[in-house]
Amino acid sequence: MDSPTLIGENIPCMNPDIADAMNRQIGMEFNAAFLYLSFSGLMNEYGMRGTGRWLRAHFHEECAHALKILDHLELRRTTAVLPTISSPSFNWETPADLFRIALDHERVVTSSIHSLLSLCRRENDFAGEQLMMDFVREQLHEEATFASIFHALECAAHDPAALLQIDSQLADQL
Ligand SMILES: [Fe+2]
Repeated sequence: MDSPTLIGENIPCMNPDIADAMNRQIGMEFNAAFLYLSFSGLMNEYGMRGTGRWLRAHFHEECAHALKILDHLELRRTTAVLPTISSPSFNWETPADLFRIALDHERVVTSSIHSLLSLCRRENDFAGEQLMMDFVREQLHEEATFASIFHALECAAHDPAALLQIDSQLADQL
């Protein structure tokens, strides 16, 4: 008797190097999520609750990025390896410091996405390439957003009225 055919059995598996790189990318997205969640709490304590809410929304956005890659792996019947997320550690004194750290982190993420895109192209993984192109566009906006908030906070420096105005503008974006 013939053995039963499993659903999706004939879908070819992914290149293992691409699968590894995508798993690492999932880790980076969750690391970003944890970073922004911890920043959110710090901003709430600092008295900038609009910024805290904005950062918490960004925590959800980063989780969605991780899940988008995870869904891609599942669609292609490739095991997604969930990463260990360590507690974020950083030094800060002003809100601008936190957004500088976030901007630096987004730049690292962008570089990782670009490497993954190059790998997909080298291996003719067109579905992977398409997914990574979505992330290239996303990163363009992420970097621009964090850079503009960082510069605004840096200009406001220790001026409470200016900081509260930025705080209220961020709250309005939600
Ligand atoms: Fe992301």
